[in-house]
Amino acid sequence: MLVPTDPIHDPRQPHHPPDTGPGSWGKTLILAVLGTGAAVLVSIWALAWPGDDPLADAVASAHEVYLTYTAWLATDAISGTPDWQALALQIPQSDASRGPALMVAYGCGSCHVIPGVTGAVGTVGPSLAGIADRAYIAGIIGNTPGGLMGWLMNPTVHSPQTAMPDLGVSEGDARDMAAYLYTLGEAS
Ligand code: HEC
Repeated sequence: MLVPTDPIHDPRQPHHPPDTGPGSWGKTLILAVLGTGAAVLVSIWALAWPGDDPLADAVASAHEVYLTYTAWLATDAISGTPDWQALALQIPQSDASRGPALMVAYGCGSCHVIPGVTGAVGTVGPSLAGIADRAYIAGIIGNTPGGLMGWLMNPTVHSPQTAMPDLGVSEGDARDMAAYLYTLGEAS
């Protein structure tokens, strides 16, 4: 019996035509059009708002989400033992790093010892070292973010006889100073 030797025409070989039909070209075309469109949009954006960098913004916010997530993981919430004390003292939208400069500007250091704040060696009021672990602010307000901020903004409203003056502290500044003060735990 005669056996065909040409593999292309060998009836025993399964026939697999290469995938070059109109369907595959159509997909390639759609991808090319979408890619070009995206590039054009990015260029228009760059020309219209030269100072703007949507990619950097997206990366920055993704990074923020990542930091929040890792901070949350660090609280050990998954194993069921979150540090409730530390979580309770977190102040939303605060920037603790602004605290020391604000406290220099408000002159807090003339009356208080405050670790990490330049020139803060005053002895009129109590040292603020370890304030995060204090149960009461000035012995009268529960030590919570709201209580501490309220004290910083209006000490005489809470304690009319107190020697600590109302310094016209804004809510935003109180938030940042309180956030810094809450970094001062027992170890400070
Ligand atoms: C003129 C002095 C003076 C200045 C300025 C001053 N404080 Fe005070 N502060 C005091 C005194 C006195 C107390 C104690 C008040 C009391 O117990 O009634 C006090 C109490 C406090 C407490 C509560 C401490 C505790 O252990 O309960 C905090 C917190 C505090 N001050 C933060 C600040 C910050 C922040 C500033 C600056 C924005 C500031 N103080 C400015 C005199 C001052």
